[in-house]
Amino acid sequence: MNLSDLQSHFGSSRPKSAAFFEQAASLIAGGVNGNLRYYQPFPLVFQQGRGAWLTDADGKTYVDYLLSYGALLLGHGHPVIREAVETVWEEQGTSSFGATHPLELDMCSEINQLYPSMESIRFTNSGLEATLFALRLALAYTGKTHIAKFSGHYHGSHDHVLISVNQTKESGPAMPKAVPDSKGLPDYYVEHTVVLPFHDWEACEKILTEKRDEIGAVILEPLQSGYISADQPFMENLRSLTEHLGIVLIFDEVKTGFRITLGGAQTYYGVKPDLTALGKVVGGGFPIGVVGGKRAIMEMCSPLRSSSKAEVVFHSGTFNGNPISLAAGLATIRYLKQPGRFDSIVDRTTSLRKGIETLAREYRIPFSTVGAGTIFNLVPTEEANDAGTNPQELRLALDYLLMDEGIYTKPLNRFSMSDAHGETELQATLQAFEKSFQALRQIAAV
Ligand SMILES: Cc1ncc(COP(=O)(O)O)c(C=O)c1O
Repeated sequence: MNLSDLQSHFGSSRPKSAAFFEQAASLIAGGVNGNLRYYQPFPLVFQQGRGAWLTDADGKTYVDYLLSYGALLLGHGHPVIREAVETVWEEQGTSSFGATHPLELDMCSEINQLYPSMESIRFTNSGLEATLFALRLALAYTGKTHIAKFSGHYHGSHDHVLISVNQTKESGPAMPKAVPDSKGLPDYYVEHTVVLPFHDWEACEKILTEKRDEIGAVILEPLQSGYISADQPFMENLRSLTEHLGIVLIFDEVKTGFRITLGGAQTYYGVKPDLTALGKVVGGGFPIGVVGGKRAIMEMCSPLRSSSKAEVVFHSGTFNGNPISLAAGLATIRYLKQPGRFDSIVDRTTSLRKGIETLAREYRIPFSTVGAGTIFNLVPTEEANDAGTNPQELRLALDYLLMDEGIYTKPLNRFSMSDAHGETELQATLQAFEKSFQALRQIAAV
């Protein structure tokens, strides 16, 4: 058995997902509403999510570690979120005002308490809109023309940041270069994006200093892909150099916000960015994005500033600050702020990671875990390379085995935990890992 056998077995044992996906592909381009959702031979089609569990079209159940790409920190259909959404429906009577309303202020106060760097705030409907708007603000504030981003960092699917997301030989990490990650990107964005190597302070310092007159913003995932930390000195150096060079530092905390610590990666490092983008968890499972930061930068978009559009950064969105997303997000934050709640999710994450690592050692599988707070991923150890195996293929094989044992995180994706993942789910997960590691030993020369 090899990887393609595992994939065929996956396909043939899920006839209803297969049939549905085929139909979907006739009306939805590629059968998926997002390229990242596809994997071979077809992605699972789900019909239900409850707590930590998903049920697919064939009635198979899975402990869910994808959690809608990390958005569902309380799991699927948590009662406090359900109640909050029902209350909006009863009390406000609408899903959107398209105007200022009290829940907006409530949310800003909660965010500002946990993220004091976010002195002034605006809402958007997605993480992509948040990073796009943060960059626009930074360029307007500095009057410069270029942005800098890190090789391997994802900031959503808009033109200025769909560059060097997937690391290739060309795009890094040793020799970062602006390489488009999509067809159809105007050359302008490639020409106006400077790519930096994460972790390599010397190179970053050189590039930023040389291009100080052009670069208006540095945007980064403060933990790459949500789970790979930078060194503390790297973060501190980046903060002080950007400040010195007059470059706006943007933390994209769409993944890390409320997950690494409740106060995000900025609390974890103790480093204050100029602007922050939030998304995912802050909407409690409904669409949202948030941009906030230094008042002087945020005020660039204030209509109170000037009535001349040449003086103001434009920002708008029909559903910005809609009461459903805000109520769900507020319920999530308030629940997580109850004493011990968040820490207990972190404790369960730590215990799961330890359990997986112990099993990996026992079965001599060359994987370890890397992460912080409630996010982690499985990464190949040195031995994986030494053994001459292809670590990515090995990981993929493991992911298909895990899916067969009822564990879902989408092949090659990171693991996110939720409040709904209790002892039962953890035990089920470790049993599934044990069986999958046993099978992996049989099929791979590890
Ligand atoms: C770090 C980061 N930034 C931005 C985004 C884009 O957010 P959205 O998918 O809500 O547009 C994502 C989404 O995964 C993300 O992980």
